[in-house]
Amino acid sequence: MSDVFASLVATLDAAWICLEEAVDDPGSPARTPTLATVGRNGAPEARKVVLRATDRVDAMLTVHTDLRSAKASELVAEPRATLLFWDHTRALQIRVRAVAEVRSGADASKDWAALPPKARENYGVAPRPGHEINHADDYALQPEPKNFAVLDFRMDEIETLHLGERHRRARFLRHDGFTGLWLAP
Ligand SMILES: Cc1cc2nc3c(=O)[nH]c(=O)nc-3n(C[C@H](O)[C@H](O)[C@H](O)COP(=O)(O)O)c2cc1C
Repeated sequence: MSDVFASLVATLDAAWICLEEAVDDPGSPARTPTLATVGRNGAPEARKVVLRATDRVDAMLTVHTDLRSAKASELVAEPRATLLFWDHTRALQIRVRAVAEVRSGADASKDWAALPPKARENYGVAPRPGHEINHADDYALQPEPKNFAVLDFRMDEIETLHLGERHRRARFLRHDGFTGLWLAP
């Protein structure tokens, strides 16, 4: 078998295949990356999200959220973010440094229209996400397109780490066309 992770071109291709499969396959380990943002007062924040779409040509990733969530307001204040993926089946970590755009309202109406009814419930919790409630179930699900936000991540850097007999670490930068370079693991 050829050693995919000894080639920069093949490594980047493997990373994209991993991300693309994650969108299509609900069971994919890469489907739920950790999204890290700069939180209030500059403290780091991290949480799981679902990867909804990829665009290999423009090097973009898409996530859906509630516009009223902390992550959405954090990304408006500081659009730089990291998405971290771990696919244990490939022994592959993918670390994406990106700049986010938060789309909502008319700019997200096509995305909202494409959502199944059940998925829309994720964007209609009342009171707003993170609001303190008296009892565990003191909330309602009222899908509201105005609460829906699309997070578009422009990938500026893709860093891969493959764990194998020899660990292989590579960095691919947008500003040089994602040509790639090797890093000591
Ligand atoms: C497996 C998993 C997937 C999740 N996917 C999303 C998601 O796609 N979008 C989202 O807003 N929250 C998602 N969540 C919930 C977030 O992790 C988080 O708890 C919530 O959005 C509040 O985060 P915030 O206060 O930092 O905005 C997911 C949680 C888990 C455990």
